[in-house]
Amino acid sequence: MPDQNNQNIDALLTEDRRYPPPEKLIKDANAQPDIYQLDPDAFWEREGRERLSWSTPFSSLREWDLPYAKWYVGGQLNACYNCVDRHVESGHGDKVAYYWEGEPVGERRVITYAELQRLVVQAANGFRELGIAKGSHVGVYLGMVPEAVVTMLALARIGAPFTLVFGGFSADSLSGRLVDMQCEYLITQDSAWRRGKIIDLKSTADTAMAQAPSVRTCVVLKRGGNEVTMTEGRDVWWHDVTDNQPGDPAQCPCEAMDSEDLLFLMYSSGTTGKPKGVVHTTAGYLTGTAATHYYIFDLKPDTVYWCAADIGWITGHSYIVFGPLVNGTTSVMYEGTPDFPDKDRWWDIVERYRVSVLYTAPTAVRSHMKWGPEYAERHDLSSLRLLGSVGEPINPEAWIWYRDHIGGGKTPVVDTWWQTETGMVLITPLPGVSTLKPGSASRPFPGIRAAVVDENGTEIEPGTTAGYLVIKNPWPAMLRGLYHDDDRYRQVYWSKFPGVYLAGDGCRVDADGDYWLMGRIDDVMNVSGHRLSTIEIESALVDHPEVAEAAVTSRQDALTGQAVVAYVTLKGGAEGSQQKATELRDHVAKVIGAIAKPANIVFTPELPKTRSGKIMRRLLRDVAENRELGDTTTLADPSVVQEIQTRAEAMT
Ligand code: PRX
Repeated sequence: MPDQNNQNIDALLTEDRRYPPPEKLIKDANAQPDIYQLDPDAFWEREGRERLSWSTPFSSLREWDLPYAKWYVGGQLNACYNCVDRHVESGHGDKVAYYWEGEPVGERRVITYAELQRLVVQAANGFRELGIAKGSHVGVYLGMVPEAVVTMLALARIGAPFTLVFGGFSADSLSGRLVDMQCEYLITQDSAWRRGKIIDLKSTADTAMAQAPSVRTCVVLKRGGNEVTMTEGRDVWWHDVTDNQPGDPAQCPCEAMDSEDLLFLMYSSGTTGKPKGVVHTTAGYLTGTAATHYYIFDLKPDTVYWCAADIGWITGHSYIVFGPLVNGTTSVMYEGTPDFPDKDRWWDIVERYRVSVLYTAPTAVRSHMKWGPEYAERHDLSSLRLLGSVGEPINPEAWIWYRDHIGGGKTPVVDTWWQTETGMVLITPLPGVSTLKPGSASRPFPGIRAAVVDENGTEIEPGTTAGYLVIKNPWPAMLRGLYHDDDRYRQVYWSKFPGVYLAGDGCRVDADGDYWLMGRIDDVMNVSGHRLSTIEIESALVDHPEVAEAAVTSRQDALTGQAVVAYVTLKGGAEGSQQKATELRDHVAKVIGAIAKPANIVFTPELPKTRSGKIMRRLLRDVAENRELGDTTTLADPSVVQEIQTRAEAMT
């Protein structure tokens, strides 16, 4: 196990605070202790039948042809029908689906299930007129606007798989995804609000489409109202496409889709330069996200639920859109940042809508911690009864602050571990059952069998050492492979320990059987809960004409969890400068997106390499963390790393 994990383990081993479930939850919670006793197959069979509506019921629970699973085999259903139509049909059309809060103060929309249905049907009819049909591939590049949800549902209604790309990604990142999925259509917006300014998305989409010739039609939603260039014959306005369309569901029936039909691809960083197209299909994904959402957030008919993630990440797909809508939830959706116009914006939203469940990332909690509790104190947060955390390990201090200052010292905090690939939460407390330990994600969700294994794949005795987290049985929302890349799928997840899924995270199970996640054990970093690949950032750096070589690693950061540190050698022995560092950071933002910008850039005449020429990232990491160097005996030239240390120190 990498050294940094041992440090984390030492810190966590001293964490002995315990929080048993509140009395009321023990009695009334959706999940009761016996839920853990159910046989996984019986559990998922029941969830599949009860949580979804089927046009053709499934004939068998699953087929497992390692490493490919099929779930709810033989069934037919439609995701949009399950998320919207059936709630209207069963008399819940007036229930609010989304309280949408725009970033500009005062801009709000209340969208009921009936209204959502009308918007979705209008969009689907408009899309169909443009030629989008069952099996068409569609790219979506939208921010946190209701039309993003409407688009996802309208495409699911038609049976057109999509990939929704986070609005912060660059033109190159967008075009890479459009090309990989061979998208024929792109749905985007003129611009998105961010901290009081509008960020142009359409011009980024234009640059992306210039490199993605498969896209023949682009639908543009007017949001920021900035001037955009509309390309004749390719670009059309959203309002022209949808406004005059009928909104009557009978005029746009839901396509019957097979349980295993592709619902969407979500591209995610891996250990190579190219993001992986993670495949998610229909029935298992919907069952898994809805079941976890129901039990983990203890959903009740009057719950007002807010997942403060961005829709462009898997958290948004699973827990802003599909899981909550299948469950007929009332959600809050917010367009902007937590600190605009002031740092109490979130708490104003919680108070306004009487939010009862809030789900966010540790990095956001740490930002609020840094700003101080006075912003939360300005508002009545007494409606909150449950808090959730996702995306990265939550340090006990942040956990406790979250519970005390946001949850009024009374709410359970559910720390949910999962991944883009898992589609749904796999390791989590259940609020009425688990005794919570700050920093621990508790235990595998019912129906999930996990373990921690050593280098040989042998299960490690609970209460001893850390190892590799693996999942031992297939689960409904698991990825169905990587798009058009069977080799990589097998190699990344299934080759190190045959027969089990390798999550890529270090983990320790304590003597009670609770899981403590320790961070990634591969070249994937987690910055503010966003997944970044070291190799992808290295490629972006060497793409700059003046860069000869680059190595990227991370260091721990109090706010963002991890921060990116880049070591760069310029061509021709040139010396670096502050200005050059800024230029390189901007270049990374241009190639990947602003989220990938290195926090520190250290210029160095050479990188530390082994005699066979391999860059020793382990040592660079030691330098980044400002700790004693590990074994340097295999270095070709030990003076290189000393020089880098001196330079790095000079910078701090
Ligand atoms: O390292 C784990 C970390 O985030 C990775 C997955 O990232 P991504 O696919 O972007 O999905 C993020 C949202 C689900 C994991 O391999 N991670 C996620 N949740 C936790 C976590 N690490 C510790 N504790 C968590 N609760």
